[in-house]
Amino acid sequence: MCGIVGYIGRREAMPVLLEGLHRLEYRGYDSAGIAVVYRGKLQVTKTAGRVQDLRDRVNDKIKSNVGVGHTRWATHGEPNEINAHPHLDAEGHIAVVHNGIIENAEQLRAQLTTAGVNLVSDTDTEALAHLIAGELRTGGGSLEDAVCRTLSRVEGTYGLLVIDVRHPDELVVARNGSPIVLGLGESEMFVASDVAALVRHTQQVVYLDDGEVATVRANGYQTRTLDNQRTSKEPTTVEADDGDYELGAYEDYMRKEIHEQPEALRRVLRGRLEDRFATARLGGINLDPRELRSVRRVKFLGCGSAYYAGQMGAVLVEELARVPADAEPASEFRYRNPVVDPDTLYIAISQSGETLDTLMAVQELKRKGGQVLGAVNVVGSAIARECGRGVFLHAGPEIAVASTKALTNMAASFALLGVLLGRVRDMSAAEGARLVDGLRALPGQIEQILAQEDNIATIAGQFAGADHMFYIGRVRAWPVAREGAQKLKEISYVHAEAYQASELKHGPLALIDASMPSVVLVPDDELFAKNISTIEQIKARGGPVIAVTSGDLPADLADAVIKVPHNTPELDPILLTIPLQMFAYHTAAKLGRDIDKPRNLAKSVTVE
Ligand code: G6P
Repeated sequence: MCGIVGYIGRREAMPVLLEGLHRLEYRGYDSAGIAVVYRGKLQVTKTAGRVQDLRDRVNDKIKSNVGVGHTRWATHGEPNEINAHPHLDAEGHIAVVHNGIIENAEQLRAQLTTAGVNLVSDTDTEALAHLIAGELRTGGGSLEDAVCRTLSRVEGTYGLLVIDVRHPDELVVARNGSPIVLGLGESEMFVASDVAALVRHTQQVVYLDDGEVATVRANGYQTRTLDNQRTSKEPTTVEADDGDYELGAYEDYMRKEIHEQPEALRRVLRGRLEDRFATARLGGINLDPRELRSVRRVKFLGCGSAYYAGQMGAVLVEELARVPADAEPASEFRYRNPVVDPDTLYIAISQSGETLDTLMAVQELKRKGGQVLGAVNVVGSAIARECGRGVFLHAGPEIAVASTKALTNMAASFALLGVLLGRVRDMSAAEGARLVDGLRALPGQIEQILAQEDNIATIAGQFAGADHMFYIGRVRAWPVAREGAQKLKEISYVHAEAYQASELKHGPLALIDASMPSVVLVPDDELFAKNISTIEQIKARGGPVIAVTSGDLPADLADAVIKVPHNTPELDPILLTIPLQMFAYHTAAKLGRDIDKPRNLAKSVTVE
């Protein structure tokens, strides 16, 4: 969703800002804008279109060394040019770009209108520009002081970037619930809401904390809290570099990210497999064996694919550690006044670390004394910081809206957690060793699946005309079926529904006919024969079947077969997930969809 960029320093700001906005496009947006200081005035360009359109509109003659930019996902007011950021005060001195939602915006806008201010947009952000200008006029002090006084009147979430044309040597930023990161350069500084916008220029970054404000100048920055306490920050080195954000030889990010999975998986396992004691090592969770043993339940919370990864995690933990485990959408959990149990280990799962529903669930848990770990991909993100401990996913930047490599690394991390919890309980060393070996084999086995891409693309082509599809799995493969159906829906817009194989006969079998293909997951486990009989039931009603299996199916049983290598039964679901990603991808490609940016969806949902 919304993205912020800012630049101050020795180069021309405009290309840096436009490039930064381009890097943030993947998050989803509906309008964009930019403001730079030129000849003592703010030069503002906006569009209700893409960043490319903004690029076409800016005046190339404008040379400036300081400016701000924004991609907007409409919340207050429709997506048009007027509502696009930056927003200015009445005199055009102050420009503000803002991510998040100001909850008392209506009240603040009404106060401004009563005071005679003419509001030109429908946004909450515009109110901030007028309020900051008013604070400067009446209270004086620095821009930072005026921003702090304004924010003390504001309720809601913000990542905020402010520029004052009368002080073009500084930018002021503030954060509450919406990320702001500073990029440190040589005689130049960058500001962004996501490191993607600045890794091209620097890998040294500083993440602001909630309630923190910074003044940024070309040669440095200083931070303080909203109530005027100076803070000191340690720069962090970003893991990713610019190349990780490039498409390279791939036509889109989703295909690139599918193919990056073996490498991403090697990273998440690195240093975490402990052969000597046949267990897993997860230093970041910070729990000693006694604490691990006192965990009575595990509950996974996440949204979208992260929730399905949580379901996979629940199956793994319950099976490997014999600890009751379940998963729930964080979006539901936060609204239902949950009973928070101090002996339950809560795991908040998020690729971006920014999903508002998941962040709110974590905050609710913490308020009620729950112990919560993060399983997060983006270091320095809101959820990672709020949890304070957990497992980083090390999948590398994920740009495509549909999650692939992050989901696989989530599931693998939960297998590690399952082994760790299991080995402090009743799991034998021999069992532990079997799983450690199985985990180590996964990246190579995924490579074997990726090598079957042509076959999977052909099968996807055969079924791309279907309007509806079933995804059928049971027990371990049930979350895999749900995630597979989600992938198909998200990127191909083909309606897909996941069902437990055992439930077919209790209703959905009525829908089976020649126009309803089913993807049936058939892991080589103790339920193999049962799954074969599921396929037979579907075939008997004339339903086409695509079987995805780690076993040997009777010849001619299914209309199409995708084989995955066999690992151990507990880990097979991770392998079964991969062909479903490729199947959805090639179905969407066949249908000519915008695969990386499916309609109506955003990569990170940072609003209600
Ligand atoms: C959005 C995306 C999904 C993603 C979900 C959770 O809905 O479209 O692909 O799974 O958010 O995102 P997170 O960053 O928290 O994993």
